Amino acid sequence: MNNPQVKRYTITAALPYANGPKHIGHLAGAYIPADVYARYLRLNSKDVIFVCGSDEHGTAIPNQAIKENTTPQAIIDKYHAQMRDCFAQIGISFDIYHRTSERIHHQTSQELFLTLFNKGLLDEEVSDQYYDDEAKTFLADRFIIGTCPKCANPKAYGDQCENCGTSLSPKELINPRSTLSGNAPILKSTNHWYLPLQNYEPWLREWILESHKNDWKTNVYGQCKSWIDAGLQSRAMTRDLDWGIKVPLPGAEGKVLYVWFDAPIGYISATRALFDELSQGQLKFATPQRSFKEVKADDWKKYWQDEETKLVHFIGKDNIVFHCIIFPIMLHASQQYIVPQNVPANEFMNLEGDKMSTSRGWSIEMHEYIEDFPGKSDVLRYALLTNLPETKDSEFTWKDFQAKNNNELVAIFGNFINRALVLTQKYFHNKIPKRNLLPEDESVLISIDTCKQSISESIENYRFREATASLINLARIGNKYLAETEPWKLAKTDLERVGTILNVALQIGANLAILSEPFLPHTAKKLREMLSIQRYTWADAGASELVFEGQSLAEPTLLFEKIEDVVIDAQLLKLINKKKAIELANTPIEPAKPSIAFEDFSKMDIRIGTIVEAETVAKSKKLLKLKVNIGIDTRTVMSGIAEHFSPTDIINKQVTILVNLAPRKIMGVESQGMILMASDREGKLRLLRPNEVVNEGSIIS
Ligand code: 2FM
Ligand code: ZN
Repeated sequence: MNNPQVKRYTITAALPYANGPKHIGHLAGAYIPADVYARYLRLNSKDVIFVCGSDEHGTAIPNQAIKENTTPQAIIDKYHAQMRDCFAQIGISFDIYHRTSERIHHQTSQELFLTLFNKGLLDEEVSDQYYDDEAKTFLADRFIIGTCPKCANPKAYGDQCENCGTSLSPKELINPRSTLSGNAPILKSTNHWYLPLQNYEPWLREWILESHKNDWKTNVYGQCKSWIDAGLQSRAMTRDLDWGIKVPLPGAEGKVLYVWFDAPIGYISATRALFDELSQGQLKFATPQRSFKEVKADDWKKYWQDEETKLVHFIGKDNIVFHCIIFPIMLHASQQYIVPQNVPANEFMNLEGDKMSTSRGWSIEMHEYIEDFPGKSDVLRYALLTNLPETKDSEFTWKDFQAKNNNELVAIFGNFINRALVLTQKYFHNKIPKRNLLPEDESVLISIDTCKQSISESIENYRFREATASLINLARIGNKYLAETEPWKLAKTDLERVGTILNVALQIGANLAILSEPFLPHTAKKLREMLSIQRYTWADAGASELVFEGQSLAEPTLLFEKIEDVVIDAQLLKLINKKKAIELANTPIEPAKPSIAFEDFSKMDIRIGTIVEAETVAKSKKLLKLKVNIGIDTRTVMSGIAEHFSPTDIINKQVTILVNLAPRKIMGVESQGMILMASDREGKLRLLRPNEVVNEGSIIS
């Protein structure tokens, strides 16, 4: 960060697909670390923009529209709004949250495509692509599924396997099928424009493998190296599809830009939109987080075209190839744009021992958390930050979440602040007392700056877990100081000493109010209000006197509250039930049986009867012994429904009965018919009853 050549920062966080809700694993992957970084830079008075938006193209969108029986436009409108609002609630401080369906994005993407085309850097090639002969359409990316050649997941997409994260092309799938018709695809020839990645290998080797050997994360560097070493190949930058950005060339009707061509350009168009809106004073997508003075629409260029801008992409590991290889090649080849200085990609966060996945129902969606834990977004931020998958996959558990809240936020941070404030209120009428420092106080005050330095160093090196640990460590130091000096015991004998102790504690509190801002912005704000702190920059933090004798404090309120076991148990149950419900919804319905002749059907004598007696059967969990009046007679039926109905549930109820089923002995009793039931996908049984009472013996035909 002290690189004198860095004049400004462009921070991006992966544009999430607007095809469904996003979960807390996404937050841990990209958005929370990016937000901490951007907030930290702002507090350091850096010129920074933090941009994001919804990725609204690609086959993921029309695919979801089919699933929800609606239009692609309705899908992107719904999920764009949901994601935007959730990010805001969680305190992700984007300067703009844009959309790739906006005109300026279409224009920016087409311009870059044409720049590359006009430079002769795109190759037009004809090749055979999968085609659905029934739906009469080519099957790009997510319109095709099949078995993943890497992990055998039977539902891998044509562009990526969501199970193992491997990036795929449709022809790599084993047993490919169309998601539109379910049919096996045929091959049909079509023309597309390709970016020959292999031509840029020498540049990539120099730029990544040599220049960034020491400053990129090993997981990112390693993935780039294996891609480059495996030999790069041409990649089609266009698709046969009707949802997306039109290919701006004559004769390219019915073709759109590949979603991974346009999506990262979304960072640039979001920046353009930000400066457009700022210069016009009309904010639609922008929520600027700092003051931008005398802005011109063209100012966006500084953030994308000036070598003194540091561009950093925050993403999850499945996006590495696109942000480290393909997009940088596009930027570099255009000769118009800078390339990223770092791409601190995270690994994945698992949930309670299994991969997080919205489609399998094993996830905590952002909106679910917000609904279930109102006002507690900092708790989630903290639980994720202390557990970020920075070097390897990590694991979120509800028990850990509870422990982080109760044992760290409540017991350390909250408790420390509360004790300092309540004691100041009690003994000093809510005014910061005078101090007369002893050596032990001085050494505690020195540790504030030490903590600040380690937080800074960790953030600047993208080690956000470590940074969070240093933050809570400062609260721990404060808590320990109060526990050791015990001002509540000294109050009767040495109020002056109590004053010094509380002054020191309040200095730590005031520093926490600044240092916690990037991590726990809502808490930091509350704390600043309680301590009446007006001025807060990172440069102010570290000081041993941030708040002064005589300064009044606001009424103390609790920063955090304990989360009880019942709340956690309810979340675990919710998770299990959600997964079950999705599994059930995905269970295929039993296929139809082969057709039969009418004569076969008419052989069955099915009637309405009334159950006049019902009793359990000794030594049988399943059977009930029933007497059923079928009009003709009252007969005994042994029915395997005891696990679903008690005798009192069904007595006097009319039911449907197959009367002429050959009698057979069950548990020594002759059963003379069969009660017909509807069995749902869960195997739950329901009686089939006429919608009004009818005569016993009424025939069903
Ligand atoms: O993986 C995804 O969710 C993509 N929509 C990320 C795109 S990031 C960028 F390129 F826009
Ligand atoms: Zn796989």
